[in-house]
Amino acid sequence: MDETTAVREPVDLRSDTVTMPSDRMREAAANAPVGDDVYGEDPSVNDLEATAAEVLGTEAALYLPSGTMANQTAARVHTERGQEAIVETESHVVRYENAGFAQHSGVQIRPVDAGDRAVPSAAQVADAVIADDLHRPGTGLLCLENTHNAKGGLVATPDAIAAAAEAAHDRDVPVHLDGARLANAAVAADVPLSAFAAHVDSVSLCLSKGLGAPVGTVLAGSEAFVATARGVRKLLGGGMRQAGLIAAPARLALTENVARLADDHANANRLAAGIDGLDGLRAPARRRTSCSLTRPSRQSTPRRSSSAARTRASSGARSAPRRSVFAPTSTSTRRRSRRRWSGSRRSSSDRVAPRGSSTASGGGGGNRRRRTR
Ligand SMILES: Cc1ncc(COP(=O)(O)O)c(C=O)c1O
Repeated sequence: MDETTAVREPVDLRSDTVTMPSDRMREAAANAPVGDDVYGEDPSVNDLEATAAEVLGTEAALYLPSGTMANQTAARVHTERGQEAIVETESHVVRYENAGFAQHSGVQIRPVDAGDRAVPSAAQVADAVIADDLHRPGTGLLCLENTHNAKGGLVATPDAIAAAAEAAHDRDVPVHLDGARLANAAVAADVPLSAFAAHVDSVSLCLSKGLGAPVGTVLAGSEAFVATARGVRKLLGGGMRQAGLIAAPARLALTENVARLADDHANANRLAAGIDGLDGLRAPARRRTSCSLTRPSRQSTPRRSSSAARTRASSGARSAPRRSVFAPTSTSTRRRSRRRWSGSRRSSSDRVAPRGSSTASGGGGGNRRRRTR
């Protein structure tokens, strides 16, 4: 059979979660030094967590089995039972996490429609925050998502994240970033991952979505946040024992595969251009990191000319040398974020002490005053 008649393996485009571990990852798993991670004794997990913290520019990081558990853990650490969490209407925590904020944290969702943006504007955040009074529970969390999954991988810039986060911080509300695909955002925006993480109090990053790791998500933040999150992970049943077998390949996802997302984006743009060339189909023109199809009505939407489609495809494929997504943010940005961790508005221990604990903040838990219920 020659090239043109050979039957090729189809490319599975259902989801970036179907990516497979490479041979190097399988080797890393086979050779990983392991220990009991619930005791903090697994060197491969410790190595992954240190690498993730370095890459994200945070003080610490925690390895969890899934992105869902990372979001749920963050909500549980940041909020008090009964509070509200501001979230984008179509975000993953609203659509696909089984009302986990309500179930695990007793938190009510306040959805905000960001329209054609990935994250709400500062004004929307400011409007959505409610004060804690006789009738209302107060806002306990702003949860952002980047890239925005349900909007086709729409990217929020670090400035957009910063604006929304600042509006929340100004009102004493902590911010979690669901960064399941933050690596896609970093590659698309050509900035280091830390450029996003610097503005929020916690950030998750999935290593098994498009990056080839067999299992796992990292959740990063201050040392105090991660210490509390470690306890919540155990509570949720996410304490793992000899997890180095999956952490060692997951580390390679972070160190070797992030930059390769640029190839995925170029391929997605190529595919979009090809689709635009087909009668009756159109790929959305906005800047997204994954491709979804729409079938335009013939009357209202003229088919894009194939030359325009080609132009779009070639501009999507980057040829210029790229800045490393691992490059640290400037020292001043880091210092600013550290100051925030250590709490100019409130102490970091106030913000992250486990609910119901009698630790660092002298019995004060969550991010607001303790309430009786
Ligand atoms: C934005 C976002 N957050 C969180 C998750 C949950 O990840 P997991 O499937 O690992 O629980 C997903 C899954 O696709 C996602 O798209």
